[in-house]
Amino acid sequence: MNTKVPEDFTLEVWQNYLAEERKRLLADPHRPSYHITAPSGWLNDPNGLMYWQDQYHVFYQYNPHAATWGPPYWGHAVSDDLVHWRDVPPALFPDAPPKDDGGCWSGCAINNNGVPTFFYTGVKNGEQTTCTATSGGDLVSWKKDEANPLVRMPELEHHTHQAYRDPFVWREGETWYQVIGTSLGNRGQVLLYRSDDLKNWEYLHPLVPQNIRDELGDGGHIWECPNFFPLGDKHVLIVSLWHDRQLTYPVAFIGDYKNLKFYPETMQRVDWGHRCFYAPLTLQVEKRRLMWGWLQSLRSSKAQLAAGWSGSLSLPRELFLKEGKLASKFIPELEKLRQTRHALESLTFEGEHDFKQFSDQALEFKLSLERGSAKQTGLKLRYGDEFTLLYVDWQTSELVIDKTHSSHNEAAYRDLQKASFEQSLNTLDLHLYLDHSTLEIIANETTSLTTCLYPETSTGVAVTLVSVGGTTTLRLEAWELASG
Ligand code: FRU
Repeated sequence: MNTKVPEDFTLEVWQNYLAEERKRLLADPHRPSYHITAPSGWLNDPNGLMYWQDQYHVFYQYNPHAATWGPPYWGHAVSDDLVHWRDVPPALFPDAPPKDDGGCWSGCAINNNGVPTFFYTGVKNGEQTTCTATSGGDLVSWKKDEANPLVRMPELEHHTHQAYRDPFVWREGETWYQVIGTSLGNRGQVLLYRSDDLKNWEYLHPLVPQNIRDELGDGGHIWECPNFFPLGDKHVLIVSLWHDRQLTYPVAFIGDYKNLKFYPETMQRVDWGHRCFYAPLTLQVEKRRLMWGWLQSLRSSKAQLAAGWSGSLSLPRELFLKEGKLASKFIPELEKLRQTRHALESLTFEGEHDFKQFSDQALEFKLSLERGSAKQTGLKLRYGDEFTLLYVDWQTSELVIDKTHSSHNEAAYRDLQKASFEQSLNTLDLHLYLDHSTLEIIANETTSLTTCLYPETSTGVAVTLVSVGGTTTLRLEAWELASG
């Protein structure tokens, strides 16, 4: 328990507190240096994304009291360039009136004709409700609406798990719409609402017609954190699947939106990381649809508590459609982090090829692989005698992260994670970012795999190229990265 958390809402006191907390954890070798993290304590979902007066604002579920989930505040980070982030005092406090005794759960932000406005899930006496808060324009001080809660769960047959959360709001012409994550008959669903004034909300119907919902094989008992938006000539619904009390992974449905109903045609995973990338939230800025996800810590609760921090947000990814699928790429602004470059123009090899020993664990890699005769091709990240293997298995068309030797520390989850490609692969483009304990990979723009590593060796990382069972040809560029 962190007893120093300020009890009042004074901005200056909070600002000093956050600066001290960030400094206190600076020496922790597992702390990401250019990802968004909370200064200390617990972070989960990204919330209330906003582009406002030339700055990007990211809010997040935050428990300053300890590195474990607790009634959430809304933490806040701001950036001019999407690369360098500054801490801002929390925007929402569970205790601020009208009180949300169970916390201020996830939600979104909109610009209501110049008034920055949040829609969030206020949990009151165990009931999940939609609440709202506004800011005068500095986006630092926020005031909850005295009329909260604004919307409550309608009386619906087969409503299950008391789930009614994570409002996502958008405008079509003069009308506002909102979707809310829920569960009907023990299967995830989202409810659609309409409003002319953002205060009175009319419940319409489940966004996905129930007979079509029944056919979807997603396996989510609750659909959490919905995002619904046009992309290219299609519409996309992203939801995170809560299943058997476990947060599993987000999926994206692509389909058509007609007469206020959504007809999914395809379903895919947004990221293949095992219990790592969750609850993504998107933001439209001009022509781009940006997405951040929550990267869950992959070590025991005890180890998270002892470290004093848990969770980070992913790097911002831009979403687009590629051959009918949801695809993503890391935004080019991140190139600003690049320092020394190391490259291999073209290398054909078999077995192991030592590439380089790096002194810091903050790296970017871009690799183009050609199948050749190899069965597996990839990288070995070596930390003394701890190592993580990251490779493509050409025979099964899978991208694999083998963490079975990634740490001597028993508290770190040491598993094998896989992402499957639908077609057989002959080439593969990998783009990856290593930031101390976080590792994010996007392959061929269509498949991403995110995980966390906690090697006990904290001094640098040695990278070896690996080609098993035959030769591979590869091109590679790598950069040592600056802190964000
Ligand atoms: C997803 C989630 C949301 C909820 C929030 C609470 O991780 O369960 O559905 O609003 O976390 O922190």
